[in-house]
This record gives sequence, structure tokens and C-alpha cells, in this order.
Amino acid sequence: VAPNLEEIHDFLVSLAFKAGNIITNALPGTGGTGSKKNSADLVTEYDRAVENMISTSLKDKYPDYAFHGEETYDPARPLTDAPTFIVDPIDGTANFVHGFPCACVSLGFAVGRVPAVGVVYNPSTKNLYSAIRGKGAFLNRETRLPLKGDHAEPLSGLTNALIGIEWGSDRSGQNWETKVRTFEKLGQSKKLGGAMVRAMRSMGSAALNLCAVAEGTLDLYWEGGCWEWDVCAGWVILAEAGGIMVDGSPGGWETRLDGRKYLAVRGAPAGQKEIVEEFWSYIQGKLDY
Ligand code: IPD
Repeated sequence: VAPNLEEIHDFLVSLAFKAGNIITNALPGTGGTGSKKNSADLVTEYDRAVENMISTSLKDKYPDYAFHGEETYDPARPLTDAPTFIVDPIDGTANFVHGFPCACVSLGFAVGRVPAVGVVYNPSTKNLYSAIRGKGAFLNRETRLPLKGDHAEPLSGLTNALIGIEWGSDRSGQNWETKVRTFEKLGQSKKLGGAMVRAMRSMGSAALNLCAVAEGTLDLYWEGGCWEWDVCAGWVILAEAGGIMVDGSPGGWETRLDGRKYLAVRGAPAGQKEIVEEFWSYIQGKLDY
């Protein structure tokens, strides 16, 4: 039987609120912070507690579907085509640790590796973003995305764009060089050969970046190095808001859920393809994930 996406959506929303309570009740700074790889790649006892609550609830209600979560990820068990819940218990862990109000729970469901349901909840702002494939994307279940007004006007080039970027936690090597040199080029004056974009923002949460592009409060978001649990839920919310997701490297109009490099562009009646090509033309070097 085909998965009941409406029912899955509603169940994920209920889990997102439960997760939000765990996150809100945690006092910043008391989270038993551990670093996975370095001081920029963090995990707390709350990441584990939230993932455990979510995976237990999902395995209980949907025993036939696979579960793929950030804290229990096993490289020996990569993503498959099976119906799969793809979960980041706290996306924006560094923000959570510092009490910076951009951390969320990101709950996705994919079939054939295509995101079909997405629920993203930020307990600090109480913003709930959600979507079911083919049914539109919503803020707090009632406001259709993108937001009205300028947020859905045609895109008129990078000079007028507000762009989400992330530094990520790898701070050396080719990928690092590519990101840093690209950020420089994007910001640089036209006289020096740069794009002179209006501004760049690092929100510290891939899922919230994607939801901002879905809303239209960001025009684009570019990142290399994040994972399927960072983007699955946000991807369907973006797509249902008319936005597009392409490869973070030039030329990839089709991209994979586990492709690890992404460029998202907001919904607009015109200019999406042109702005992707313009952005790709400023990428300095290669991303190799
Ligand atoms: C991270 C955040 C961050 C992004 C990293 C992600 P986490 O997720 O989304 O914005 O730059 O690539 O790993 O570790 O906080 O769940």
C-alpha cells in the first residue's frame, strides 16, 4: 500500500511539537556538549534524546518504513529507495548550545529518494513549516508559502539578492578553499570582478535556510557538506513553495537527496534559471563531496 502522506504529515507535526518541548526545556549551556569531529561539529545529550524519542515513536507507528537519523547514521547503511523517515533531531546544534534562536527539528519522509513530506519546527520562534508533495507548503499550517508581496516577485539578478551561505565544519582542504573564495567573489565589488550581492547570511541551520527560501525571505541558499537529514524536510517545503533545488556545483540541474551540495532558489514567476546560471558562474573552484 502507498504511504498515507497526510497521516504521516500530521504525525510528524505532533512529534515536532514534542521535540520542541524537549528543546525548549533544555537550558542552554547545560547540554553535555560533545564534539564529533572538531569544535564546530557538535552533538549534545538533547540531540540524542530527541532522536531517540522520534525514532522510537516512528518505529512503533510505522514499523515497515526505514529510519535514517543524524545521530544514529551508519555509513554502512546508506539511503535507499525504500520509504524512509529522514530526521535531524536538532538542526543548528551550535545555535542551540549558544541559545541563538535558529535551531529546529527537521522531519522528512522520502519515497524513492524523493522528499514527499517535510516538517520543520523552530521552538524559539514557534514557526512550523510543513509540506506534502503536491499539496502546497505552509507556515503554521495556514499561511501558504511563499509569503505574499515582494517575496514572490521575479528574480532580477544577484545584485538584489539576499543569500544564505554556510561555512560548515570542515575548515581546510579544497572544499574550504572553494567556499571561502566563492564567498569573496559573491560579496566583492563589480569593479573587482565580483557579483556584489546585496548581502549574505549564515543562519546556522540548513533546514531553516531552506524554509526561508521557501518563504521568500531569502532569495538563494548555497551549501556544500551538509547531509540528507539537513535538507530532506526543507526540500519538499521549498519545492511546494515553487522554489527549485539544483546541484551546488555548476551544471547539475538534477540533484540527489544525498548529493551533499545544494543550491536552492526561491519561487518566482521568472528568473530562476538565469539566477542559477549567474550563481554558478561565480563559484571559484570545485566542491568534492
Ligand atoms: C548543521 C547545520 C549547519 C550546516 C551544517 C549542518 P547540525 O547541522 O545545518 O547550518 O552548515 O552543514 O551539519 O549539525 O546542527 O545538525
